[in-house]
Amino acid sequence: MQNYGTLDASYIAAGKEQGIRKLVDDFYHQMETQTRGHHIREMHTDDLHIIKDKLSVFLMGWLGGPRDYAKKYGQMSIPMVHKHLVIGEEERDAWLFCMNEALKDQDYDDEFKQYLIYELSRPANAILRVSQMEHSNR
Ligand code: HEM
Repeated sequence: MQNYGTLDASYIAAGKEQGIRKLVDDFYHQMETQTRGHHIREMHTDDLHIIKDKLSVFLMGWLGGPRDYAKKYGQMSIPMVHKHLVIGEEERDAWLFCMNEALKDQDYDDEFKQYLIYELSRPANAILRVSQMEHSNR
């Protein structure tokens, strides 16, 4: 058992900046090519350059690497930046599905892949809860 989650162990296991940027590119590629991804792809702007950079820089800090997100894009809370979007179980599952498919293409240990998808399900669930509260009366 590796000690992912302590210091920069996860950042290193994810291949540092280069590995994380590749993961994010592959993730959006899955979103564009998998039928299950189409609906959440449509929630995004046509041009994915900025969102790819945002997700990459966010994940770098979140995984214990350089914390540059706030410097570059300002302070934010993950559930709050999604609250204008209607995200239910289907959208959450589609996001995690595309990420899981992208993880299959990475040169990571299986243990790290499992760890990462589990850890990502936490913010994905927080986003779902906030979106449901926000949109429940509409
Ligand atoms: C639960 C399913 C999710 C869906 C459907 C989703 C969808 C989106 C969409 C459409 C945007 C662009 C929003 C806009 O420009 O108006 C966005 C932004 C973003 N998402 Fe997600 N997302 C999900 C989960 C996650 C998770 C789990 C993370 C982090 C681990 C994440 C990190 C981000 C970041 C960092 C941004 C940029 C926020 C900013 O503008 O500063 N997302 N997401």
